[in-house]
Amino acid sequence: MREGTETLVRRELYSAPAYWIRSVDLSFDLDPIKTLVISRMQVEPNSAFAGHHEALRLDGEDITVTRVQVNGQSISFRLENGQLVLENLPSEPFQLEIRNTCSPEKNTRLNGLYTSGGGFFTQCEAQGFRRITFFLDRPDVMATFKVTLRANKQSYPVLLSNGNKVESGDLDHGRHYAVWVDPHPKPCYLFALVAANLVCREQRVVSRTGKDHLLQVYVRSGDLDKTEHAMQSLVAALIWDEARFGLSLDLERFMIVAVSDFNMGAMENKGLNIFNTKFVLANPATATDVDFGNVEAVVGHEYFHNWTGNRVTCRDWFQLSLKEGLTVYRDQEFTQDMAGSPSARAVKRIEDVRQLRQIQFAEDAGPMAHPVRPDSYQAIDNFYTSTVYEKGAEVVRMMATLVGRAGFARGMTLYFERFDGQAVTCDDFAQAISDANPDSALAPRLEAFKRWYAQSGTPRVQASGEYDADNRRYTLTLSQSCPATPGQSEKQPFVIPVALGLLDREGRALPMQFVGGPLASPTERLLVLEEASQSFTFINLDSAPVPSLLRGFSAPVILQAQASQDDLLTLLRHDSDAFNRWEAGQQLGLERLLAAVQADQNGEEPTLDAAFIDAMQALLRDESLDAAFRELLLTLPSESYVAERLVERGVAVDPQTIHRVRDAFRAQLAQALHADWAAVWDKHAQTGGYSPDAISSGRRALANLALANLVLDAARSGDTVWPGRAYQRCKDATNMTDRLGALSALVQAHAELAEPALARFHAQFRDEALVIDKWFTLQATAPESNGRVFARVKALAQHPDFSVKNPNRARSLLMALAQNPAAFHRADAAGYVFWAEKVIEIDAINRQLAARLARGLDRWRTLAEPQRGAAQEALQRVAAKPDLSADVREIVSRALAA
Ligand code: TRP
Ligand code: ZN
Repeated sequence: MREGTETLVRRELYSAPAYWIRSVDLSFDLDPIKTLVISRMQVEPNSAFAGHHEALRLDGEDITVTRVQVNGQSISFRLENGQLVLENLPSEPFQLEIRNTCSPEKNTRLNGLYTSGGGFFTQCEAQGFRRITFFLDRPDVMATFKVTLRANKQSYPVLLSNGNKVESGDLDHGRHYAVWVDPHPKPCYLFALVAANLVCREQRVVSRTGKDHLLQVYVRSGDLDKTEHAMQSLVAALIWDEARFGLSLDLERFMIVAVSDFNMGAMENKGLNIFNTKFVLANPATATDVDFGNVEAVVGHEYFHNWTGNRVTCRDWFQLSLKEGLTVYRDQEFTQDMAGSPSARAVKRIEDVRQLRQIQFAEDAGPMAHPVRPDSYQAIDNFYTSTVYEKGAEVVRMMATLVGRAGFARGMTLYFERFDGQAVTCDDFAQAISDANPDSALAPRLEAFKRWYAQSGTPRVQASGEYDADNRRYTLTLSQSCPATPGQSEKQPFVIPVALGLLDREGRALPMQFVGGPLASPTERLLVLEEASQSFTFINLDSAPVPSLLRGFSAPVILQAQASQDDLLTLLRHDSDAFNRWEAGQQLGLERLLAAVQADQNGEEPTLDAAFIDAMQALLRDESLDAAFRELLLTLPSESYVAERLVERGVAVDPQTIHRVRDAFRAQLAQALHADWAAVWDKHAQTGGYSPDAISSGRRALANLALANLVLDAARSGDTVWPGRAYQRCKDATNMTDRLGALSALVQAHAELAEPALARFHAQFRDEALVIDKWFTLQATAPESNGRVFARVKALAQHPDFSVKNPNRARSLLMALAQNPAAFHRADAAGYVFWAEKVIEIDAINRQLAARLARGLDRWRTLAEPQRGAAQEALQRVAAKPDLSADVREIVSRALAA
């Protein structure tokens, strides 16, 4: 069947469907080789099209139609570009019945109906439903679903679909059936079914409305002991959404099902969330603190979609951020609220921003740059991006900042009053938030604010301050610009909320008063930068203040503030805003990394100065700071972050130099602070019984960083005690965070004991797929040294446990390599040759996965030679394949486009 996907789909060309499908009665005879699907639909011509007799064009892909009936009579049909075209249809509502077959076992794309671990699972977002049956596969067509599942009882004892189970029983030939009814109209991308041999943990809860709900987490029988945290997270999410937004569960039954073959994190199908096992299964023995955090965040994310995505959904896929940006914002807030203390909240914010800057900023600077609400796409699956998700969440966060916390809650309420049960646009959302807050800072500038949805690229904000001692005034000038991005050469100014504080030289917060402003002089203010350039003057200041700009990262911009070393040190020591304290430290580290990379060209050895080391030492010793916060402060900016900053300065990126310099700095910090690392280890190594809370996980994170430094320093000094201790900890640890931390310390330092420790770890966890994924990743992300990491990756690709068919496993090795700059970007091009091979190999099996891996060379143009030319060649080699999927073709052709 032809796919017709290489054409560009354009947002401007949206038009309503010619027909509505109001209800669907689906029946499945499940068989791995050939599944029979019967779909009975109530179809209604769209009255807006009355008069013309439009053909009904139903989407379909890799399925075989056997019969079509209208009101009980067989009719003729034709297939055109994969669509089923029906003509001469009644002008009144009618019943349409379609019979078709599909082959779940052959469906290696994991999109549509597929098999995994001997069960049946579905994934329909964004356009997988058309791989199950012919339908109007677009989110603005919403129908109620009744689903009948028939399957062999012994192999598939559990039969699930959306909504409530209304009937079940036995059939002949060892088969059984179940009937599910979902009363909520939904777009077909939210349809799901599961037929498998699973067990479940369940719990009943009563919501605020007094209604009783059944919560279930379904997993394979050996995994029941890893479901407690997911269930607790689900209950917490339920309570949180009621408390924070007044949103209750609208279902009698809410199910989570774990599947080990899955392209993404999880999917919010109505009442039947399907999850990658990675984001459900967690117990202390097999999951790290990071995993526990991810489970909580993803369980929350999918649960929150029930309102932001399902009750109110997207009119078309260009509006994806309507549900994703908003839901990421909600899950970030959930995690922060769960973390509790202000310091733990800041730690979460820092982690989110670090992620945003590393991935989304790079995306915005590269060939795949697109607005939060894209204008066109070839393959929609390529637009489940960091821009749509994480930058989209920042856009929502800025709105919340501009209208205030209570105002945002009011806006959400109005949004649901207006749009519950509808498929709407990003404009509708922004309008609701604004209309609920007519006196806010958002309402008068809503149109300009919405440029955040339309303009791609990361805005730059320049800040410069001037102190006028005679008049005791300080004038801060902020100006903005945004570089050109593909398809957008000129940008209009953004509306940028800039949270600001002023400190004196001793680090005390200063009251901030405007000329002629109200007497109130808070120590933090929200400035709104909306022109190309604006000045803000503060009065009654006795000396030149140190500005603390963009507190809490109040907007997703690159701040160019030219702060002095002294200013940064003041902020690092004293800022009351934890985010900016951390940021000042990163800035100090970054400047040194950048300078050392430049100096490397003159053959200068990278050397950290005493001022920096002393500052780091003071922080490490500061017991008033949470361990988690100290761990973040003591971690240097990543190699890819340094690379992007070099690009901004017009320098071609040599990943090998960046790596060498950063490694040298790490080694120097390990050596200079040896005694402090040892003291920190002594104090934090024993964490007692496992609990994933913020305080305990922070202690483990700092202990692991200390151990990594001590083992690293041992590699220099020849000491054998610390590697021995790390090895011992690998053996004796009582939780995965400690065990993996110790193993990682050995592997990262290329210690001799790394090999026996890896072997032992593998033997111990050979039956735990998610742990073996970690084992692969750990080796692929080790600091490159003389090509041994890359050689190891190539060898691991031949390991009996490796397979590109399982996305988690493929990512654990291949995505991990692409994220290890020095191992990947080799002067001899071997990394790229390997990458091209794998992209092509995987594309034949799973195009979504291949397209993700293909993004690994997005930033090839920023590289210095010889990498640049070699990367281009590798991209061209992939692009030259004639039978490439539309997904991978879109990525590589954009990367190669001038
Ligand atoms: N809507 C899902 C989420 O963010 C994302 C998702 C899950 C997805 N599976 C997918 C997107 C497959 C595209 C393809 O919660
Ligand atoms: Zn989502």
